[in-house]
Amino acid sequence: MVRLLGWYDRNHRRLPWRALPGETADPYRVWLSEIMLQQTTVSAVGPYFHRFLKKWPTMKALAAAPVEEVMSAWAGLGYYSRARNLHACARKVAEHHSGKLPDTEQALRALPGIGPYTAAAIAAIAFGRRAAPVDGNIERVLARLFAIKTPLPGSKPELRAIAETLAPAKRAGDFAQAMMDLGATICTPKGPACKNCPWSNDCLGYAMDIAATLPARESKPDRPLRRGAAFVLFSRHDEILLRRRPPKGLLGGMHEPPMSPWEKDFPTTPLDHAPLNAKFRKLPGLVHHGFTHFELELEVYRAEGIDRAKANGAGEWAPIDELARFALPSVMRKVIDHALGDRDAGPLFRGKEPRSR
Ligand code: ADE
Repeated sequence: MVRLLGWYDRNHRRLPWRALPGETADPYRVWLSEIMLQQTTVSAVGPYFHRFLKKWPTMKALAAAPVEEVMSAWAGLGYYSRARNLHACARKVAEHHSGKLPDTEQALRALPGIGPYTAAAIAAIAFGRRAAPVDGNIERVLARLFAIKTPLPGSKPELRAIAETLAPAKRAGDFAQAMMDLGATICTPKGPACKNCPWSNDCLGYAMDIAATLPARESKPDRPLRRGAAFVLFSRHDEILLRRRPPKGLLGGMHEPPMSPWEKDFPTTPLDHAPLNAKFRKLPGLVHHGFTHFELELEVYRAEGIDRAKANGAGEWAPIDELARFALPSVMRKVIDHALGDRDAGPLFRGKEPRSR
């Protein structure tokens, strides 16, 4: 453990939400980063973190923002219920805790969007509490350190129990972040750099030469494939027709181009799902998107020169150069890019999908 903290002192990643050595981290920044880092990589989070802080420098400022604005600022990060919960959490903290996050794991867990991992991470990093956040990276480190051969997810309780015994009373936040950094930079999923690891002398997996094969995983069934047809309609004024998704469920309340339901196969009569009669052209290629529980393939139909009034009731016209104002999930950006692709010089939205960690 001492070796890990020493290693962390010398090698920790400089991340925007981390406190400088000797300073305590700002709980608002820690919370914001932990919510953003749920299912999203450190590199994808960076720009969003800076933008949010600039726009809403405090919990109270975020609580006072309209939820739509928060959803729009989140667009592209994926897993949108996180944005909704982020805002709900800010409101609750502003109302019931005078804008200050509570400092225990238990009280943190009572807030929207804060599960066991995030509560432990915030309690340790922002408040120095002895707490042990365990995510996929830390599970991997522990499975190797103790050569746990039981496959995940069955081994989760055992790994959690080990993490709890390891968490130190002092520097619990640094210890948690050291585990995260070790998992991200040394004890990586493939080809771990055991030679550079501060724990190699203590690591059973390394001693047994099986570190790289751990953790074992139960094989899981493939994600099902769903298919649908999307309709990108352009007005005569460089606008696209968007509608809002129902408030509850996947991508609830976000914007999208009109589309068919997503089913096992593409619709046999796709134009039945178009929002209005127009001269649609089916574009070559498909848009692919991976959700947590299924894969999606969309065929895209495009129509141009639509009379604004013709779309009354079908949605709202969004100016193409103002699409950033709309809460458009990544999959919908891909659809729009696909439709713009052979009309314009290049994609409107650039940048990568956040990947699951
Ligand atoms: N992943 C989740 N929380 C993190 C943190 N605080 N630092 C680095 N990676 C993380």
